[in-house]
Amino acid sequence: MAVPEATVVVAYHRIEDPSSYNTPLLHNCGGGGGGGNLRSRGRWVTTTIALACLLIVSVACIGLFTFTSKHGPATVHVSNGAMPVSRGRPEGVSEKTNRLVVGDANGPPYPWTNNMLTWQRTGFHFQPEKNWMNDPNGPMYYKGFYHFFYQYNPNGAVWGDIVWGHAVSKDFVHWTHLPVALVPDQWYDQNGVWSGSATLLPDGQVIILYTGSSNESAQLQNLAYPANLSDPLLVDWVKYPGNPIIGPPKGIYKKDFRDPTTAWRTSEGKWRITVGSKAGRTGAAFVYETEDFKTYRLLPGVLHAVPGTGMWECVDFFPVSINSKNGLDTSTNGKGVKHVMKVSLDDDRHDYYSVGTYDVIANTWTPDNPQNDVGIGIRYDYGVFYASKTFYDQKKGRRILWGWISESDSEKSDVLKGWASVQSIPRTLLLDQKTGTHLLQWPVEEIESLRLDGKDFNNIKVEAGAVIPLDVESSSQADVVAEFEVDKAAVEAVEVSPNEEFNCASSGGASQRGSLGPFGILVLADPSRSEQTSLHFYISKTSSGSLKTSFCTDQSRSSQASDVNKQIYGSFVPVLQGEKLSMRILVDHSIVEAFAQGGRTSITSRVYPTRAIYHNARIFLFNNATDASVLASVKIWPMNSASIQASSH
Ligand SMILES: *[C@@H]1O[C@H](CO)[C@@H](O)[C@H](O)[C@H]1NC(C)=O
Ligand SMILES: *[C@@H]1O[C@H](CO)[C@@H](O)[C@H](O)[C@H]1NC(C)=O
Ligand SMILES: *[C@@H]1O[C@H](CO)[C@@H](O)[C@H](O)[C@H]1NC(C)=O
Repeated sequence: MAVPEATVVVAYHRIEDPSSYNTPLLHNCGGGGGGGNLRSRGRWVTTTIALACLLIVSVACIGLFTFTSKHGPATVHVSNGAMPVSRGRPEGVSEKTNRLVVGDANGPPYPWTNNMLTWQRTGFHFQPEKNWMNDPNGPMYYKGFYHFFYQYNPNGAVWGDIVWGHAVSKDFVHWTHLPVALVPDQWYDQNGVWSGSATLLPDGQVIILYTGSSNESAQLQNLAYPANLSDPLLVDWVKYPGNPIIGPPKGIYKKDFRDPTTAWRTSEGKWRITVGSKAGRTGAAFVYETEDFKTYRLLPGVLHAVPGTGMWECVDFFPVSINSKNGLDTSTNGKGVKHVMKVSLDDDRHDYYSVGTYDVIANTWTPDNPQNDVGIGIRYDYGVFYASKTFYDQKKGRRILWGWISESDSEKSDVLKGWASVQSIPRTLLLDQKTGTHLLQWPVEEIESLRLDGKDFNNIKVEAGAVIPLDVESSSQADVVAEFEVDKAAVEAVEVSPNEEFNCASSGGASQRGSLGPFGILVLADPSRSEQTSLHFYISKTSSGSLKTSFCTDQSRSSQASDVNKQIYGSFVPVLQGEKLSMRILVDHSIVEAFAQGGRTSITSRVYPTRAIYHNARIFLFNNATDASVLASVKIWPMNSASIQASSH
């Protein structure tokens, strides 16, 4: 009940700019203590410093110093050329501008027409009516509604002035926009109401914890709750008068401490949350314990830390069942439960997860396989998918994953369109009980209600080198399910692949012909295939004689425009004994979400064709293997549009 002690508030005021921050950190490494007078200073400070000293070798300290001095104080503005100046980074959040534009980034922008830009807006993905959106925030199911909050700029199609947008749905398909839920109106969130999570308490209370970027750009954790719990729409929110409730731990730079998780309950009945951070180049997650959500105690040590991974944003931490098909409430622990940790790496803007074991007493999480540790191993998605967050849907007993899908065109185009970013179709998340290492991600079943009359293409033999058009009306909005069987004799006859490991990103994509691939589907292709985006498998034989399958997308020919990202990317996908190769692709104008082997490996991409739009967006089967024919069965459903209601408030 007590307002957090003022000393907590004072502490982060003492942490100054990046340049002066380095000195105390280096002192800490040398054993010095320095300033600060935090309430629960003591054992955990020692632990933190010990950890930092253990993990941050002097090289890392020097690296950090170089980094900060090179980047200095930056200003946010748009340069004259096509390459935009960084957004977000100078403010202390991840890069918010697409920096991966390939082609001639400084050349003239493509002459986009209104017709082309209008086509890019999606038909069944979640989008605000206009303007910029980024991270999903505080998803929950409350009194008959799925609530979705999101990082939103009410004033434009680029990042800035961040508030919490809010929408509700009964089915994850049709949405009603509501008034913005949280705006910067306090000193502790004056610079932005940043990401956070919701927790439903057993007594019916709803808790939101979020990061405020303060008047001094310190990242402070804050508490908010509904003004009226009887309102199923939760339109009005109150900020706790005792905010901020948590400031950066001693020794942590004020801009490296954000995105509180949903709380979980320990067997002692106390609640815990984790907040991502970094010390030097070591990404880390701090854990806080609370009984009333107003006062918090930093637990000794860290939940987990991985050297070299940089800042951890949007940490997610949740249990999965090893033997049931149900999702688990965030507080579930014990027999038959594994814990998943997910981090969003500020450095490369990808979401990495790992399956492991949570020791609630020791306050540590340990990956099952250190090679698959968070930040270095498996990703949710091998395309554009970031700052994701899960929640437990108590209505249907499942865990749902939301992810932010940013644009990969130029910022100039976003401003012309008047909007930027979409959210992934919410994905049901389960542990893949066959591999034990992967999660299975699958679009929520409700999305299938948008399927119109489907068309089957059964047992089509696709010879090596063939391209076969699939006769469907329009496929700017489509749900495609495909299965492939590779000619067995060809698989047996094939030689061991050359020494170098096949890698989607460094491969030639759909044009790199090998014995057993690539083969798959072309979407957003015009009839003459002057534009096409492939989703394909590529099989190689390793020196041990076993097969290795990759699932890739090739965007290199996705658009005539040069000012869009056209990378080739993807990843290895485990294919187990007796499994057919399978993929599912959701095409929705400028977003393509693809899932291989039931969602073991996913690739989401943003695609901006200039010709393969409206009725010219077609689908083809292709097989560019040199030696093997494949037998393909495909089902294609055109997809209806979702209904999105404007706010009536
Ligand atoms: C930020 O707000 C706090 C609390 O009101 C105040 O003490 C501090 O002086 C402010 N800092 C700046 C730079 O205005
Ligand atoms: C709280 O919400 C309920 C249900 O929407 C409504 O009937 C009631 O008037 C609200 N109470 C207040 C004080 O606004
Ligand atoms: C197959 O590869 C050839 C040569 O590398 C390339 O020209 C062709 O476009 C590829 N086919 C498809 C469907 O991409």
